[in-house]
Amino acid sequence: MRENVVILDFGGQYNELIARRVREAGVYCEVVPYTTSLEKIKAYAPIGIIFTGGPNSVYLPGSPQADPDLFRLGVPVLGICYGCQLIAHSLGGRVTEAQDDSAREYGKTVTYFDTTCPLFKGIPEKSVTWMSHGDYMERVPEGFKLVSHSDACPNVGIADEARGFYGVQFHPEVNHTEFGKQMLRNFLFEICRAKGDWRMSDYKNEAISAVREKVGGGKVLLALSGGVDSSVAAALLAEAVGDQLTCVFVDHGFMRLNEGDEVEQAFSKWNLNFVRVDAEERFLSKLKGVEEPERKRKIIGEEFIRVFEAEAKKIGKVDFLAQGTIYPDVIESGAGNAAVIKSHHNVGGLPDYVDFKEIIEPLRMLFKDEVRQLGRELGLPEYLVSRQPFPGPGLAIRVIGELTKEKLDTLRRADFIFRDEVAKADCEASQYFAVLTNTRSVGVMGDGRTYDYTLALRCVTTSDFMTAEWTRLPYDLLDRVSTRIVNEVAGVNRIVYDITSKPPATIEWE
Ligand code: XMP
Repeated sequence: MRENVVILDFGGQYNELIARRVREAGVYCEVVPYTTSLEKIKAYAPIGIIFTGGPNSVYLPGSPQADPDLFRLGVPVLGICYGCQLIAHSLGGRVTEAQDDSAREYGKTVTYFDTTCPLFKGIPEKSVTWMSHGDYMERVPEGFKLVSHSDACPNVGIADEARGFYGVQFHPEVNHTEFGKQMLRNFLFEICRAKGDWRMSDYKNEAISAVREKVGGGKVLLALSGGVDSSVAAALLAEAVGDQLTCVFVDHGFMRLNEGDEVEQAFSKWNLNFVRVDAEERFLSKLKGVEEPERKRKIIGEEFIRVFEAEAKKIGKVDFLAQGTIYPDVIESGAGNAAVIKSHHNVGGLPDYVDFKEIIEPLRMLFKDEVRQLGRELGLPEYLVSRQPFPGPGLAIRVIGELTKEKLDTLRRADFIFRDEVAKADCEASQYFAVLTNTRSVGVMGDGRTYDYTLALRCVTTSDFMTAEWTRLPYDLLDRVSTRIVNEVAGVNRIVYDITSKPPATIEWE
């Protein structure tokens, strides 16, 4: 049986990071709500349980609690921040609001460790940790000893080695905690005795068997966008059920240069039903005269569904609709009432319109980098697997203002040159592309006057795409790109480089 660690989610902001750290160590884990029943947790047969941080105070009525029987399973528990306070509170200690600022800690904090404790084995006795807590463990429960402190706070780490219960007030999962990864590894390997043998190839085989079992002889339909997630989902399903799968690739005409053909080509090796719908004219006519970005996005999103629906009808009743949902979508779903900055269009959101029995989401438990790894295992080409994010509405939101086929073709050519040059220069950049602005300006070429479009280059460095820095690309690279584009692409006579970060700008222009 596969080794499992259960991460009990108390609402902390770094939960996803905890899960990633555990999986990076070769141990499979899942994040489950703190309300998950004991029976369900037992069914995982966990070798360890981690309580996450959270925004509440354990001593207040109604705050999230853990089932006390969890402590009787004989399974090691690591509590992080709120999770640590919860262990103390549940097992007879006392947690209170820190009365003075000295016991309330935020940010990087010098911390001292008892390195005879297995959790801190092999790390220095003093290092920096990342704290974020306003509550304080006034009294630790019986059986526990103090294994870590800071200058301000005597109770930073607690351990009951006999029962395998450990708690830390800081966040070992964030990079600011200097030896955090080592501490998590210690929990897994020294305390839970993990083998760390979870590999993507095992996951692939398990996922394929699970899909086969679920689908039986049924028909599966997948909307393939050519992005990483839907491509990997398609490859996995193709491997599992072959020609019971139909992939519908709606080519809205806003793909990058050669992209449609590349996607089709990549899937030709599998024995699946691949339908490419050339809907460029249909989309362009719907968008005629439309300039406002949100309207463009809405029209494209809706039209996409219409086209997909029409194709699905041709196929007839399908039993399963497959989606490329990945783990961060699952963890973060229901996360927020955040303001809508842009209405993101993905190929999700289709179920209402299509006649099917059930949804299958074969990547539901994987993080993005794991999805890429799985894609490689399945033999997808590197250019598909390591793709940058590409918005659902494609180049339609990179041509500012009204769209025409000519403008799209101009952008496609310029964008190709920019991406090609940046890739060759091997820069540290997360996403880069060109934008065709709606501004024309005067130039001179040969002996003649030109009045052509201004093209903007956008390149950002980011880890989460929520915030981003504009990338300091070398001048000679920018120069090369500029020269090539104005020489090779008709209709463009001026190149500008976007030097705004996010916020205040967004990554895309529309
Ligand atoms: P913004 O422009 O909001 O973009 O800073 C953040 C990231 O999201 C991508 N993006 C999209 N992805 N559907 C998507 O799947 C969309 O409609 C969409 N709009 C923007 C963008 O490329 C960047 O990586």
